[in-house]
Amino acid sequence: MCTNRQYISEIDGVSIVDLIQLYGSPLFVTSESRLRINIRKILHSFRENYPYIVHGWPYKTNYIDAICRILHQEGSWAEVSSLLEYEKARKHGVGGEKILFNGPHKPRSILECAIAENAHLNIDHFDELKLVEAIAREKNYRISIAIRINYKSEFITTWERFGFSIDNGEARRVCNWIKKSPFLTIDGLHCHIGTSIINPDAYKEQIQIMCDFMKDIESDNETEIKFLDIGGGIPSLDAFQVLHCNEGGYLVTIDDYSKTICNALKFELSGRNKRLPTLIFECGRAVIDNSQFLITKIIGVKRLPDGKQAAILDAGINILPTALSSNHPVALSRQHSDQLIETVLYGPLCTNIDIMRQSIDLPILYKDDLLIFQMVGAYNNTNWMQFGELRPAIILISELGSHNIIRAAETVADVCRNERIPDYLLVTSPPEEGEWVADPKVRVTITDPTPSS
Ligand SMILES: Cc1ncc(COP(=O)(O)O)c(C=O)c1O
Repeated sequence: MCTNRQYISEIDGVSIVDLIQLYGSPLFVTSESRLRINIRKILHSFRENYPYIVHGWPYKTNYIDAICRILHQEGSWAEVSSLLEYEKARKHGVGGEKILFNGPHKPRSILECAIAENAHLNIDHFDELKLVEAIAREKNYRISIAIRINYKSEFITTWERFGFSIDNGEARRVCNWIKKSPFLTIDGLHCHIGTSIINPDAYKEQIQIMCDFMKDIESDNETEIKFLDIGGGIPSLDAFQVLHCNEGGYLVTIDDYSKTICNALKFELSGRNKRLPTLIFECGRAVIDNSQFLITKIIGVKRLPDGKQAAILDAGINILPTALSSNHPVALSRQHSDQLIETVLYGPLCTNIDIMRQSIDLPILYKDDLLIFQMVGAYNNTNWMQFGELRPAIILISELGSHNIIRAAETVADVCRNERIPDYLLVTSPPEEGEWVADPKVRVTITDPTPSS
């Protein structure tokens, strides 16, 4: 069954109209019960198929504090890829041994902290490796690290910019280099093959390649890989459903992914004479996408020259950047006429690219109607941008139906807080004609722009 509902009057039993009256529009609404159900379902599915499973919550997907807390309560580790994300994980009390540190930019200060806290470092490039070794050497530590690897795939376009290539031998050379260091041990492999991977067999290929590489580097009889981290990429549960319903195709479930991945892993590990490695996966969008909604109000409607209906919304691509690449299901908050017409949904920004939906069949719309964009939980609350507007509040509906603000709506003061005006610019109106020297280093000559009569 497709889940693209046309009318949504409440979320988890709470009226959408009431929410907008209380918190204003636009508004992000997060369903705690959906989030918890998703992560439990996904973890259960993997644990049914392999004994040692860890989920790392990719902070880049959505690092709103309350959301991270829920996922850590459910047992997810933190997958972070910047100083900000690492510090956020620490703030949530996640110990280094449960932090997976990815990404190409790990500044020295945070690397030193991560090393001292025994975080799982997934090394992205050789200069980073040398820096990690230098820190370990200075502190006289012997530390375990993992490397990120990539390979040419039959199924997906390789994200070759991240990690070391298996195909050109670089990954192998890096492992040899690590093995020679008295300060480093390699105990993990990380590989993230992309996002919204629609064919589970792409993971089968990934497991085969990662395991072949693992066996190769373990052949010295000293190295032992304890962590195999396959990254994220499983599509949003509902988005996937909608996509396939639309194509009238086969519905792939989370069990298809977990079975394919875990069976491939068990097959590859049979006959390996070592402890089973922990399988780490870092699903982001599959965990959160369908747990969040964006409610937006129509601020005006018009007809375009080609007869299409156009609605201008109070939410644009600055707060929903994923609308640029995905057709989020859109619902109305109340029953309208049955007649549908082709409609364009514009955001409020004064730029031509602010299109929330290029074409969708909707009933006749009116000012103040509410629209609900669904499956917006991934990559919006982290990737959003200012673009001249104030970002709206995010609320969480608890499992008991109460609601709380988890990120307050921005104010003008919030946006301006970090700006500074140098003294010589403090004068706001132009002085009389003549030379004006507010700062000896800056000379401004003012001339009267009006033509003399
Ligand atoms: C290293 C890594 N892990 C996990 C993820 C999460 O991916 P997804 O949301 O597709 O599951 C990403 C996303 O780009 C990533 O780069």
